[in-house]
Amino acid sequence: MGYGWLLSAALAAALASWAFDALVRLVWRPRAVARRLRAQGVRGPGYGFFHGNLRDIRRLRAAGAGVRLGVADHDFTPIAQPQFREWVPRYGRVFLYWYLPTEKNRRVWKLDKEVRTTLTKIIKNRLAAKEKAGYGNDLLGLMLEACAPEHGGDQLLSMDEIIDECKTFFFAGQETTSHLLTWAMFLLSTHPDWQDKLREEVRRECGDRDRAPTHDMLNKLKLMNLFILETLRLYSPVPLIRRRTRTAVELGGIVVPEDAILTLPIATMHRDREVWGEDAGEFNPLRFDAGVTKTAPKNLGALLAFSSGPRSCIGQNFAMVEARAVVAAILQRFELTLSPEYVHAPTDVITLRPKYGLPMIVTSAGA
Ligand code: HEM
Repeated sequence: MGYGWLLSAALAAALASWAFDALVRLVWRPRAVARRLRAQGVRGPGYGFFHGNLRDIRRLRAAGAGVRLGVADHDFTPIAQPQFREWVPRYGRVFLYWYLPTEKNRRVWKLDKEVRTTLTKIIKNRLAAKEKAGYGNDLLGLMLEACAPEHGGDQLLSMDEIIDECKTFFFAGQETTSHLLTWAMFLLSTHPDWQDKLREEVRRECGDRDRAPTHDMLNKLKLMNLFILETLRLYSPVPLIRRRTRTAVELGGIVVPEDAILTLPIATMHRDREVWGEDAGEFNPLRFDAGVTKTAPKNLGALLAFSSGPRSCIGQNFAMVEARAVVAAILQRFELTLSPEYVHAPTDVITLRPKYGLPMIVTSAGA
C-alpha cells in the first residue's frame, strides 16, 4: 500500500479545506453580509448561488444592447447601466448587489497582459535608442530620465511602476478628455442655438481664427464653461467608479463590511431628479449659472464627473482648460452638423463613447 493512503488523506484534507473555503465565500459570507445590511435597512436583488446577480445584469444589458435613442434623449442608462435603472426604484439609492465578474475578469487580465507587453516594447525601444535620440520628449521620456542609472541612487520607479504610470495617464488623461470632447461635439451639433452662442462668445473674447486663444481669454468663456459642465453631467466620460473597503467603515449611517465594493454609478446619479430637479434629463447648461455647488442644492457634491475627495481627478483643472481651448479653436473655424447616419447609442467601455462613432458634417464657419 506504501504511501498511497497518506497521499489520499492529504488530498482529501486539501479538498475538504477548499470545499470549506468555497462554502464560506459562496454561501456563508453572502448570507451573513445580506443579513447585517438588511438589519440596517439595506435591501437588494437576492444573491444567486455562484453567479451573484451576474445573470440578471447580463439579461438587462443584453436587452439594452439593441436600444437606439433619439438624439434629444440623453438618458443612456438603459444601455449602459440598466441594472441601476431597474434596481434603484425598487430598492432605493443604497442597495446591495452581488457581482462575480469572472468572465470579465479574464478579459481584463488578458487585456492588461497585452497592454503591458506593448508598453514594455515601447520602453525597451526608448532605452535602446537612448544614445542617439535620448529618452524622448514626453511623459514617458521624463520618467525614464528620472530613473536613469546615471542619476545614481536608488532607482525611483521599477519597470512595472513605469508601466502603471503610463496606463494611468493614458486611460485617466487621454481617453477621458477625448470622450468629453466627442460628447461636446455631439451636443453642439444637436443644439445649434448653443453652437451660435458659444461661437459668438469665443469670437468676442478670443478673436477670430487667426489667433490662438490664450489662458486669460479662455478664462473669460463663461458660457463655454457652463456648456462643458453640462456635457460632463449628461455624458460623464467616466460613468461609474468603484471603491473597495479595506476595513469595515460607516458611511451615511450604514456600516459597510470589510472587502466590499462600493459602486457609484455616476451616470445614473447625474440624472436623479430629486438632486437635479425635474429637468434633470434635459440639456440645460444654464443650470450651472449659479456655480457648481449651488446647482443641486440638496447635494453639494452632485457633479461627480471628476469624482470627489482625496482621490478625485488630479487632472481636472487641466482637462477643463484643454476642453475650453479645443472647443474654442473648433468653433472659431467650423460649423458642426450631425450626420444623418449617426445612431445615438452611448455605451460604456470603461469610458463612455458613441457605440457607432460620431459621423459629423463639418463646414467652414462664416465670419
Ligand atoms: C474630462 C476629463 C477627465 C475626467 C472626466 C476624469 C475623471 C476622473 C475620475 C472620475 C477619476 C476617479 C477615478 C476613480 O476613482 O476610479 C479620475 C482620477 C484620475 N485622473 Fe482624471 N479625468 C479626466 C482627465 C484627466 C487628465 C487630463 C489627467 C492627467 C493629466 C487625469 C489624471 C487622473 C489621475 C492620475 C487620477 C487618479 C487619481 C488618484 O487615484 O489619486 N485625469 N479622473
